[in-house]
Amino acid sequence: METLEAIRTRRSVRKFSDRPVEPEKLQAVLEAARQAPTWANMQCSRFVVVEEPAVKARISELSYVEAFFATRGYKSNPAQKALADAPVVIVACADPNNSGELRGQQYYLADVGIAAENLMLAAHALGLGSVFVGVFDEEQLGELLGIPAELRIVGLFPLGYPLEEAKAGPPRKPLDEIVHYGKYQV
Ligand SMILES: Cc1cc2nc3c(=O)[nH]c(=O)nc-3n(C[C@H](O)[C@H](O)[C@H](O)COP(=O)(O)O)c2cc1C
Repeated sequence: METLEAIRTRRSVRKFSDRPVEPEKLQAVLEAARQAPTWANMQCSRFVVVEEPAVKARISELSYVEAFFATRGYKSNPAQKALADAPVVIVACADPNNSGELRGQQYYLADVGIAAENLMLAAHALGLGSVFVGVFDEEQLGELLGIPAELRIVGLFPLGYPLEEAKAGPPRKPLDEIVHYGKYQV
């Protein structure tokens, strides 16, 4: 699939078939994440690949954070079932000590964010689907997966074959609302 078409047609996938992900496709998705640009090429991203159903089920439970969702009227994380149902869950972490900090901004989030988009676009180009899941209990998830305390967990990515064709996604703001030419117009 051509790059711009993949960017245009990618959607968050939250319903998965039980068709397994071929090992070579999983490798291609991880390879796309590996190729992402990073701060000073320090490559702070780390990935945990989970395929064990009981562990995916626990990850799914940990994606419901009551303090976050209950106040917003949600009874579950919209991606909660996807984390249990998808054949693969990729847990993306970062080692903040291997990235940059400048003007109070920590760039590990940018590093992993770029890797995440590579991962999701590669998945889509290969006929797979995924979704960035950013809400989860980081402490309990770290314990479950043995992730060292100095790492941050940035996102969870269920990966598999979509159960249905992607519908049109949530609309984006028009360019003239987000782009300023020459100078920021207030
Ligand atoms: C940083 C980040 C965190 C997100 N966390 C969640 C999440 O916890 N649960 C969920 O269902 N979707 C989550 N999403 C997916 C967004 O809701 C989705 O990307 C957005 O609505 C646009 O839809 P699209 O991906 O289909 O274009 C997250 C996306 C990003 C970038």
